[in-house]
Amino acid sequence: MRMYDIIMKKRNGEELTTEEINFFVEEYTSGRIPDYQVSALMMAIYFQKMNKRETAELTKAMVESGEIIDLSPIEGIKVDKHSTGGVGDTTTLILGPIVAAAGAPVAKMSGRGLGHTGGTIDKLESFKGFSVDMSIEKFIENVNKTKIAIGGQTANLAPADKKLYALRDVTATVDNISLIAGSIMSKKIASGADAIVLDVKTGSGAFMKDEDSAFELAKEMVDIGTSVGRNTIGVITDMDQPLGYAIGNALEVIEAIDTLKGEGPADLTELCLTLGSHMLVLGERAESAKEAKKILEDIIASGKGLEKLKELVKSQGGDPAYVDDVSLFGKARIIEPVVASKAGFVKGIKADDMGRAALVLGAGRETKDSEIDLTVGIVIHKKIGDFVKAGESIATIYANDAEKQKTATEMVLEAYEITNEEIEAKQLIKGIVTKSGIERF
Ligand code: URA
Ligand code: CA
Repeated sequence: MRMYDIIMKKRNGEELTTEEINFFVEEYTSGRIPDYQVSALMMAIYFQKMNKRETAELTKAMVESGEIIDLSPIEGIKVDKHSTGGVGDTTTLILGPIVAAAGAPVAKMSGRGLGHTGGTIDKLESFKGFSVDMSIEKFIENVNKTKIAIGGQTANLAPADKKLYALRDVTATVDNISLIAGSIMSKKIASGADAIVLDVKTGSGAFMKDEDSAFELAKEMVDIGTSVGRNTIGVITDMDQPLGYAIGNALEVIEAIDTLKGEGPADLTELCLTLGSHMLVLGERAESAKEAKKILEDIIASGKGLEKLKELVKSQGGDPAYVDDVSLFGKARIIEPVVASKAGFVKGIKADDMGRAALVLGAGRETKDSEIDLTVGIVIHKKIGDFVKAGESIATIYANDAEKQKTATEMVLEAYEITNEEIEAKQLIKGIVTKSGIERF
C-alpha cells in the first residue's frame, strides 16, 4: 500500500477502505509517513469529506493507536461529559459533584488550559495542595469510595489524534466535521467511558459558528459513539457569550461554589442541570431527564453537591476550608471596573475575545510551559439583552499588573457589541441529538 495512492484516491473523491485508513493512521503514528503527505490527505478530506463509515473507521484507528483505559473495576455505568470548548466554562466543577452525589460514578480525565480556554485542572489547583497526580489504582479507588475523582491526561491516549490535531492546526484543516468528531470521540472512547454526554457549542465563541453545523457535528459524534456501543447524547448550547459571569481560575471556582449553593448564574445553573440530568439517565440513575433534574435540584438545595466538592478536594490533597471561606483563594491586587462609553442593549459578547483578554491578564497559558496566575480574570455584569447606561460598569477586571489591566479593559470594551435596538435574551439550550434523532427547541 502506498500513501501516494491513498492521497490521490481521496483527492478524486473516492471512499477509502478500512485497510487504507488503518494504514495511514498506524504508519503516521509510528513516524513512517511524513507530515507533508498527511497534510495533503487532510486537505483532500477537507474538500472531499468522509462518509459515516470512513469517519467511524478513522475514529477506531485513532483509539487503537494508543492505550485504552479500563475503568471496569469501577462499579456502575461510567458516564463522561465533554464540551467542545468554551470560555468561562466551569460546568465540570459543578456537574462532577452533583452527579456523584446522585450516586453515579464520575471518573474524569481533565486537561490543562491552553490558549484562551481554561482547563479544569488549573481551576482545581486554586485549592491549595490539590493534585491530579495519582496512580490509576488510586484513581479507581477514589471513584469507588467517593464516586468522584479528577485525573490528569497522563496515559498515552489516542496518540494518532495528538499528531493529526497538531498538523491540522497548522494546515487550516481543523474545521471539518468528520475530523473534529473523530478527534473528540477517539479520546473519549479511549478514556474508558461507557456513555458520553456531549455539550456541543455554537456561536461566536465556538468552533461551529452556526447552529446547523453544530447539530451536524453532534449527529456525527452520536453516530460514532453508537457504532462502538457507547450510548451518546449531544446537547447543542449557545456560546455567543461567555457562560456565567466569571472568567479566570479562582474566579470560576468561586462561581462554581456559588452555583453549588444554588446562588449561581442562571445560564450556568441551567446548563449544569440539563447536562447532569442526561448523565443520570444514561447512567441509569433516573428514568427520565425530568426526574433526573428534580434529583439534581434537590442535591443543590440540600447542600449535598457542595459537600461532595469538599470531599473531592480533600481526597486529592486540597484544603476544603476554601469552600466555606472563599477569601482563602486570595485576591488580585488591582480590581477595576470596565465602564461603558455609550448606552444601549448588549447584542453580543465575543466569547473568544473575552478569553483572550483573560489570557493577557495571565489567567491562561500562551505556551504549554507558561505559568498562570490563578487570581486574575474578568467578571462580567451585563449579558446579551441587558440594558447598559453610559458610564455604567459592564465588567470588573482582576489584575496584578496595571499595563495588562489597561490592555484587557480595551479588549473587553471591544468584545462587547452594544446597539440601540432592544435585544432578546439568548436561548441557552438549542436542542438535543440522540441515536433516534434530532430535536430542536
Ligand atoms: N477538539 C478536539 O479535540 N479536536 C478537534 O478536532 C477539535 C476540537
Ligand atoms: Ca463562567
